[in-house]
Amino acid sequence: MSVSIAEKSEKYDLRVPRYTSYPTSPHFQETDTDQDYRDWLGKLDPKAGVSLYIHVPFCDSMCSFCGCYTKIVKRYDPVSEYLEYVHKEIDLLAAALPARMTAKHVHWGGGSPTMLKAEDWKSIIDKLKDVFDIDDSSELAVELDPRTATEDYVKAIAAAGINRASIGVQDFHEEVQVAINRVQPFETTKQVVEWLKKYGITSINFDLLYGLPFQTTERVTDMVEKAVSLGPKRFAVFGYAHVPWMKSHMKLIPEEALPNAMERWEQMEAAAQKLEELGFVKIGLDHYAREDDEMTIAMREERLHRNFQGYTVDNNPVMLPLGASSIGQTPLGYVANVQPLRDYKRMIDAGILPVGRTRDLSSEDILRREVIEQIMCNMKVDLAAMCNKHNVAEDFFADEIKRLQPLVEDEICTLDNHVLSLPEEGRPLMRMVAATFDTYLQQGQKKHSRAV
Ligand SMILES: C[S@@+](CC[C@H](N)C(=O)[O-])C[C@H]1O[C@@H](n2cnc3c(N)ncnc32)[C@H](O)[C@@H]1O
Ligand code: SF4
Repeated sequence: MSVSIAEKSEKYDLRVPRYTSYPTSPHFQETDTDQDYRDWLGKLDPKAGVSLYIHVPFCDSMCSFCGCYTKIVKRYDPVSEYLEYVHKEIDLLAAALPARMTAKHVHWGGGSPTMLKAEDWKSIIDKLKDVFDIDDSSELAVELDPRTATEDYVKAIAAAGINRASIGVQDFHEEVQVAINRVQPFETTKQVVEWLKKYGITSINFDLLYGLPFQTTERVTDMVEKAVSLGPKRFAVFGYAHVPWMKSHMKLIPEEALPNAMERWEQMEAAAQKLEELGFVKIGLDHYAREDDEMTIAMREERLHRNFQGYTVDNNPVMLPLGASSIGQTPLGYVANVQPLRDYKRMIDAGILPVGRTRDLSSEDILRREVIEQIMCNMKVDLAAMCNKHNVAEDFFADEIKRLQPLVEDEICTLDNHVLSLPEEGRPLMRMVAATFDTYLQQGQKKHSRAV
């Protein structure tokens, strides 16, 4: 029996992880040694190359919706000091690798990498090139806050080799922007896009949000139309994760102005509908790309992946973290760098890789991770084939199959001869389907954001 939007939004207003990893980060274990991570690094295949994620945990003002690890600074000294530590960490990391390796993807996130001065972009990219092979075919991507980017800044990052920009837009409506303490006029975003194109950075993504205070479906539709008019190649459209018990600045968000579960659902659908109408293809849970974009092609060819940055065409199982709170993975396990900054600096001063938490993977974790990644990326997984591939009995997932029945009855997924598929109506609830395979999840904890 088909379930209406109202029923689905009510019934499935549950909190589940986003599955950018499995096991998810709350299940990483604290460590006081970098030895496991060093062992994992030592066993990397030198020819396979690495991806790098570099975190910049500084912003010059706090957006009240922000869920990231960042610190507000009014002077540049803490940023330059931090960069000196990142330089030292790059040396420590390079020394722990089995050989000089190629970095095919480097992603700067934050916080706000837009805080870095032009000369610091050059010096950090030069530093990376000292120890990694990075050439024109490497993707160097940066998260960019248009409010603080100038033409000189854009020129400098382009000259340093940055070739992809992820622009934080969130919403264009002034009432929404004021409520989230992020006033960013449409003209500001437009100007930055023009500069990026002028200096050759044409791979442009936008981040949009729904579920923000004072957002309505009409405003979301309008936001999408305005955003598409600026010509980005890809979108991420996230549901605002309101977690004031974890991020106290979110208490500044007027809760009475937040859309309820059903309104969030309608906003998500309104954004999807408008993006599709304007020529974008849905990718996984929350991404959209043009028909000819490499992400769309990867999805169609079932080569899409999911890592801590979300959906990616990067098929490298090695993503090495740099900077405080960065998180990454190797084939043998996950690794999260420490925060706060004083711990990060203390460890680097002692010549220790600044690892705070790790998580090694059992063979069962690896099986479940692949099942979950296929659900999140392909909306389909052949459970019997997975069991064969991972050498477990074909009925290994018998319990999960039983637990999926209510979702099958609500037409959120189908099960046909051990092939689990999600129809289009099931897409928004793919996290619920994935959660069925998560043995660590304790339902009912108010830890995670809403499924929609
Ligand atoms: C890590 S932030 C950094 C981007 C950059 N500092 C900026 O603000 O433009 C990247 C994206 O995460 C998303 N984000 C941040 N907080 C969020 C939250 N509480 N819920 C959902 N998405 C969030 C926003 O869309 C944001 O653009
Ligand atoms: S959204 Fe971006 S600019 Fe705003 S506080 Fe978070 S990281 Fe900083």
